[in-house]
Amino acid sequence: MSIARWPRAWVTGAGRGIGAALAEALARDGVIVYASARNREELDALAERCSTLAGSIVPMPLDITQKSDIEAALNGFDKEGWPELVVLNAGTYQPFSAQAFDEESFQRQIDVNVNGTMRCLAPVLQRFTSQDHGHIAVMASVAGYRGLPTASAYGASKAALINMCESLRLDLRGTGVKLQLINPGFVRTPLTDKNTHDMPALLEPEDAADRIVRGLSGDGFEITFPKRFTYWLKLFRILPYRWYFALVGRATKSGRSS
Ligand SMILES: NC(=O)c1ccc[n+]([C@@H]2O[C@H](COP(=O)([O-])OP(=O)(O)OC[C@H]3O[C@@H](n4cnc5c(N)ncnc54)[C@H](OP(=O)(O)O)[C@@H]3O)[C@@H](O)[C@H]2O)c1
Repeated sequence: MSIARWPRAWVTGAGRGIGAALAEALARDGVIVYASARNREELDALAERCSTLAGSIVPMPLDITQKSDIEAALNGFDKEGWPELVVLNAGTYQPFSAQAFDEESFQRQIDVNVNGTMRCLAPVLQRFTSQDHGHIAVMASVAGYRGLPTASAYGASKAALINMCESLRLDLRGTGVKLQLINPGFVRTPLTDKNTHDMPALLEPEDAADRIVRGLSGDGFEITFPKRFTYWLKLFRILPYRWYFALVGRATKSGRSS
């Protein structure tokens, strides 16, 4: 498959997990990928792993909670040329129950997942709308569809991203800027390794990355997978609360998410 329409891409959260697999899949297809995360060693290792591929990985370490880091990175784009594709994938997940409600963790998850994504998105939107061209994909999660046990912070952050993308998609109608939303089910990564509950239809990151690349090449707004799992959650989204809580409560038994 040729994806030459993105000679360059910027992927955040590319040090490991889904972002690293996505960066590698894009590099395999000949894309020059600017790969961001805080951990420089993971980015260097990714660049090394991809050194024989058709494209390449350019490590661009930054912390999405630091506006100055993002500004420095974007200054680099101003000098060297902007990527045609931006995938805002960086995110964090810390489950806690109502009984152990953790205000600091809540704030941290909102600051990385929502504000961090927004800090990257704002200058990208400004650039892409002024040139009337560009492709943005935002990583949310099916955990943002409805409330799940122990995910009050993570789910709220992902729900915010879903709603934000719906709004932006409408605003961008008729422009040359394409905006997509990525809502995966469970993918085996360091982020989900901390889960002790069942993870139905768990995918490997390479499989998730291939599905994302296919979705990015298409015209759909939402890239969601695996559908055998995420379509059930879509159905749950339209259930009245009474049925929703009964079904999810039964599926997650002791009050944990599945
Ligand atoms: N795995 C799943 O089942 C699943 C399902 C749905 C959605 N998602 C979403 O997919 C995205 C990637 O998840 P993953 O499972 O691949 O997670 P992961 O393995 O934990 O990787 C997260 C990546 O984000 C980076 N990151 C975290 N905080 C950052 C910060 N402040 N600034 C810059 N980079 C930061 C991490 O690097 P550093 O720590 O070095 O910064 C890492 O490269 C997340 O947004 C997650 O919510 C995952």
